[in-house]
Amino acid sequence: MITGFIGAGNLARAIVIGLLDKRVLSPNELLCVSGSGATAQALSQETGIGLASSRIDLLERAQTVVLAFKPQHLDTITKEESAASQNSLVISVLAGRTLESLQAAFPNARNVVRVMPNTPSRIGKGVSAFCFQKTPSDEDRQLVEDLLGALGTCYEVQESQMHIVTAVSGCGPAVFFQFIDYIAQAAEKRGLERDLAATLAIETGLGSLQLMAQSNQAPSQLVKEVVSPNGVTHALLTSLGDSDWSNIIDTAMEAAVNRSTELSKA
Ligand SMILES: NC(=O)c1ccc[n+]([C@@H]2O[C@H](COP(=O)([O-])OP(=O)(O)OC[C@H]3O[C@@H](n4cnc5c(N)ncnc54)[C@H](OP(=O)(O)O)[C@@H]3O)[C@@H](O)[C@H]2O)c1
Repeated sequence: MITGFIGAGNLARAIVIGLLDKRVLSPNELLCVSGSGATAQALSQETGIGLASSRIDLLERAQTVVLAFKPQHLDTITKEESAASQNSLVISVLAGRTLESLQAAFPNARNVVRVMPNTPSRIGKGVSAFCFQKTPSDEDRQLVEDLLGALGTCYEVQESQMHIVTAVSGCGPAVFFQFIDYIAQAAEKRGLERDLAATLAIETGLGSLQLMAQSNQAPSQLVKEVVSPNGVTHALLTSLGDSDWSNIIDTAMEAAVNRSTELSKA
């Protein structure tokens, strides 16, 4: 059984390395191809996986096909390539491309899966959401879970939930990176060395999120544990509350959901 990657960039590399590290698949069960060929050649050299001579060659040889190119490249799939994907399982990580548009490009696939991964996948700490076009066999569900398991954790959702999933876990890393950067910048501005400011902010983020993940307490309870009446954290949270930050986050999530909806209709 061959799993083939069309597109061999950042995300394909993360999945392939995860699959090999976790011994889910071996190099001779994996193939790749890319646009110019440069990234596919690099991935093949780095990991020992096979290099297909063309997209059609890959589609003819692979029973599972992962679409890992840019969303607009879906429109370049030819009739011959569609025909070559007869009875394959097609897994797409393309942002914003719906099951309907994937099915239109690969009408003969045995099933189509839409996935929303995120960038912590690069270190095996990603979270992915996925939905099937039609009810999958147990084997196909296992295959998808094994593949996404190479990137971190994964959860099945309804396709109608993909826009909000995109806002939470797809965009989420950018929110956390930006937030930590703002904290570090504020600390540097007030006299901490740049590196120390960044390290304190990052390690506080890491520790707090791990504590939250491992604790049975609600986030609001964990907040209360840091605050004492009229203390320093109280002053900080009061200032954030005065800026109505829950509403700021809510409005930003709404903007992300709206943009994701717009892009899926383009
Ligand atoms: N990176 C993430 O964390 C992330 C998160 C969520 C979703 N995604 C989705 O994952 C997909 C890939 O993202 P990425 O970050 O891995 O992009 P990337 O690093 O830019 O890689 C894009 C790949 O597509 C290949 N390609 C270009 N034209 C092609 C064509 N006509 N046919 C086949 N392959 C072609 C490129 O090949 P050459 O460069 O060799 O020409 C390259 O291997 C995107 O659709 C994105 O929406 C990524």
